[in-house]
Amino acid sequence: MKLTSEKALELLNEARGMAESDYWIEHSICVGNTAAVIAKALNLDEDMAKALGYIHDIGKRNGVGRGSDVVPHGIGGYEYLLSIGVGEEYANICLTHSYLNNDINCVAGGIPNKDRYKYEFVRDFIKKHEYTVLEKLINLCDLMCFQETMTMEKRLINLALRYGVFSNTVYHLTEAQKLKQYFDDMLGYNLYKLFPEILYN
Ligand SMILES: [Fe+2]
Repeated sequence: MKLTSEKALELLNEARGMAESDYWIEHSICVGNTAAVIAKALNLDEDMAKALGYIHDIGKRNGVGRGSDVVPHGIGGYEYLLSIGVGEEYANICLTHSYLNNDINCVAGGIPNKDRYKYEFVRDFIKKHEYTVLEKLINLCDLMCFQETMTMEKRLINLALRYGVFSNTVYHLTEAQKLKQYFDDMLGYNLYKLFPEILYN
């Protein structure tokens, strides 16, 4: 099934109240809307960028915790979207959005625990998957949004303050900088120029 941004927004709204907090829903809307602005500037599929942003964290409908008792939201969201007939070209974003450089260890919040649900499947998927430009864009926008758009640098400091600094933090920061540079190069200017308000927040 093709997923329009309208349908993706419906899925988000259906999930309201399911988890202990709905902050992730406002965050997801921010990621989709931010991605759409950059996609438009690059003549990419704006509605698909928005839809992917809206559903990237849909696995959090079943809980936003990080404990070992919770199915990680990436694989949880991927399996949920496939189960309701959403195509892989959309569902894949649930798996891909947290990991940079095709590496399950290149992630905020420390090296993932190997005991977690379907760890090997996710590790191998990330390694082999050829990221589309829109998937890369969602990775970037996830790093530019809390509940409002901000610079990636501000968001990364925010993540470090919330979760701490880990053995892979410098690796993740380095790859995040490369990712932003990739889009700056595509645009031919600093992408923050598309969001003048974030320079002052
Ligand atoms: Fe996210």
